[in-house]
Amino acid sequence: MEDIVQIFVGNFIHCTERLKLQVVENGFIIVKGRKIVATGKKADLNSTKARLDLKDGADEKILTGSQILIPGFVDTHIHAPQYPNCGLGYDKPLLEWLETYTYKVEKIYRDQELSRRVFDAVVKNTLANGTTTACYFASLFNNSSMLLVDAAIRHSQRALIGKINMTTLAPDDYLETPEESLENTKIFIEYVKSQKSDLVKPVITPRFALSVDMDLMKKLGDLAAYEDLHIQTHISENSSEVDMVVSKYNMLYANVYDEAQLLTSKTILAHGVYLTDEEIQLIARRGASISHCPESNTCLKSGLCDVYNLLNRGVIVGLGTDVSGGPLPSILRAMKAALDTSIHISFQYKNYMPLTYKDVFYLATLGGAEALSLHDKIGNFQEGKDFDALIIDMDAKDSPVDFLLECSVLEIFQKFIYTGDDRNIINVFVAGKQVK
Ligand code: GUN
Ligand code: FE
Repeated sequence: MEDIVQIFVGNFIHCTERLKLQVVENGFIIVKGRKIVATGKKADLNSTKARLDLKDGADEKILTGSQILIPGFVDTHIHAPQYPNCGLGYDKPLLEWLETYTYKVEKIYRDQELSRRVFDAVVKNTLANGTTTACYFASLFNNSSMLLVDAAIRHSQRALIGKINMTTLAPDDYLETPEESLENTKIFIEYVKSQKSDLVKPVITPRFALSVDMDLMKKLGDLAAYEDLHIQTHISENSSEVDMVVSKYNMLYANVYDEAQLLTSKTILAHGVYLTDEEIQLIARRGASISHCPESNTCLKSGLCDVYNLLNRGVIVGLGTDVSGGPLPSILRAMKAALDTSIHISFQYKNYMPLTYKDVFYLATLGGAEALSLHDKIGNFQEGKDFDALIIDMDAKDSPVDFLLECSVLEIFQKFIYTGDDRNIINVFVAGKQVK
């Protein structure tokens, strides 16, 4: 079958490299099948079409002045089974929140029908919020986790999906033995591979250092190395958690994961609020990334994560909603919360440079792609990459702010980041396919 050609004409914004924003006014992007084959200025569109030998009749979409094309958002950390708990339980800090609310909701996913319904809603709603790529913690249970894989494939969302490993520090009826944990992980990986999806990959997912022991972590590290897989877990989110990890293993938190060969260039560590300089250096050296989850860090009163410091020290950072540690599956909200957190930190120091709206846009797009080691495929509109994109419209029906004076492209973009929501995300594309 011949690839469909789509041509987008109008204004677009993306990050060409780390923290570097490019605004292209009156531009075009030509997409063939799933891939971006050319970008440029509108004046050069006809000559580019001729060069590419494009026949007339390509699907041409002309954006209006209130619309901007941007890369799809990357949610580097989200718990799909916690979705029904969005907005609940923020009266307790992390460890009590897990015990009181979180394990309770996660336990019910032995129910396949419920799993199917919830995961269908999660995938649809994250896509509607512009999350074209999500890095998911799925369930402890294999059958349920497989249903999240099915939902992502069914709705064409790009996803890394991990069956959780958890053998200790949870209710007895919500634990597995280390043997079951390893065996089920292997079965889950084989299931994902057997789907032959070009969008969904498995990820090794030890919940956190308090949920598993060193022996299992080492086996998971070996498995990740053998299968060349991504790894995701939590790190240094809450000060009581950090104290417990240090006393359990008698070493720094990051060193625990490093000892198990779980710190690789394909590792995503959620939170990282209380990392020491030494740990930050180790994480940077290993090329592992931090998923910054500012809404969750505030709701669970975990703390303020200093992203500016992490970036300065060469750590790759993306954004995560951490649903339901965070209350909404919206990376746009995470961007706003990342700005707030950074500004609040800046009040404590002289000459501290808080993140800007441009910086958080990098974190939400190319930064997220780098954090997930997917930047050769997604994250911006570089030719050769897959077309994962959003059309935003600040004059969309039911916009939260419904009055727009004459604005520059960058002003429309700022309005989107500070005042926009899913109603301003009018179309969503994953690998060239329109999914909203
Ligand atoms: N640490 C261990 N498990 C979890 C979880 O489900 N959510 C968050 N935010 N932190 C965790
Ligand atoms: Fe989390």
